[in-house]
Amino acid sequence: MKIDDNGKFKYSRSNAIGLWAAVGPYYAMFPLEFAFDIVKEYSKPGQLVLDPFAGRGSSIYAAATQNRIGLGIEINSLGWIYSQTKLQPASLWNVEKRLISLIEKSKANVQALMELPEFFSMCYSETVLNFLITARNELNWKKSKVDRTLMGLLLIHLHGKLGEGLSNQMRQTKAMGPKYSIDWWQKMNYITPPEIPIEDFLLDRIRRRYSKGKPKVTEESIVKLGDCTQLLPKIAKLVDNNKKKPCSLLFTSPPYQGVTNYHDDQWLRLWMLGGDPKPGYRVEKYKDKFSSKEVYHGLLDSVFKYVSRIMSEDGTVYVRTSAREFTFDTTIEILDKYFPTWNKEIKEKPFPQKTQTHLFGDSEKKPGEKDIILTQK
Ligand SMILES: C[S@@+](CC[C@H](N)C(=O)[O-])C[C@H]1O[C@@H](n2cnc3c(N)ncnc32)[C@H](O)[C@@H]1O
Repeated sequence: MKIDDNGKFKYSRSNAIGLWAAVGPYYAMFPLEFAFDIVKEYSKPGQLVLDPFAGRGSSIYAAATQNRIGLGIEINSLGWIYSQTKLQPASLWNVEKRLISLIEKSKANVQALMELPEFFSMCYSETVLNFLITARNELNWKKSKVDRTLMGLLLIHLHGKLGEGLSNQMRQTKAMGPKYSIDWWQKMNYITPPEIPIEDFLLDRIRRRYSKGKPKVTEESIVKLGDCTQLLPKIAKLVDNNKKKPCSLLFTSPPYQGVTNYHDDQWLRLWMLGGDPKPGYRVEKYKDKFSSKEVYHGLLDSVFKYVSRIMSEDGTVYVRTSAREFTFDTTIEILDKYFPTWNKEIKEKPFPQKTQTHLFGDSEKKPGEKDIILTQK
């Protein structure tokens, strides 16, 4: 990241902070420059920045690299892995060593191939698939920093354009359903998956990520894996006991009601993390498209209730949400309920002309986003 003449952040891959900020492909992400600018404008060094819907962790990373303390929560394992990979990457030496040992193991262990739907043999060559299954079985990404970093970096390249990822031709941002993919590969004549030289391919990508070193972050910054409706009450309880309200900036973007299923969209990467080999198999609370308005309302109510108990009186609440009626009205109603005396500013932010979905042929007009900013000043 660099600062331009107007004092705003400009994304740049010429330093470690910028290179690691881009980890990794997710959906409905904050633009990086926006995340850095908001942290800079609404908080000071040493202060606490909270994001209970952290996604791939851009808000928390922007805080951690600007000397703030970032505390995030994310329910999706993929978003969590990306967040922790960029906040606490293991050493390059250890990540390379682990990668090479996994490749060796996968070569020696050809019978690792498991019973998988047809999609997998059309998406990956046998060698690649054998390696992926070995990595899926072996990497202890929840507990080991080295394994998590390797998994986080591997997941970035799990699918993408032909030759740019480990897969047959696919989008990088989200995985299409198995049937759709198979029909499309057949129609477009992508019958044979590419034979990717795994070691050279991944070592090259990983070394590029480390080419400017590791980002300098505040040590205490962290994203927790879990459901914020379960974790926030625990944080609020600690705070009530101390009678100190530590959070200076709540900077978040909750999911939008009925729009995106973060789990189905990432079903292939979530399979690598031990999930099912197809989308939509099991639906757990808060891991769907938030089709139920009642559940959605309950989620926001619970989150902002506990957030209000830990917000510093001179802090800022910055919420980016959808301009869609139900999502927006619910957010406003609940913010008014828990922050009744705070001043409210609303900034309209129409969608840019070319969104990712536009580029892939979805030209339906989107309702845009709005930023709600609350302060006591
Ligand atoms: C709009 S996205 C946030 C994206 C984020 N601002 C970024 O830049 O990556 C909303 C996120 O909330 C997460 N989420 C939904 N329900 C949750 C819950 N109960 N606890 C924690 N995270 C949750 C989703 O998995 C998704 O990653």
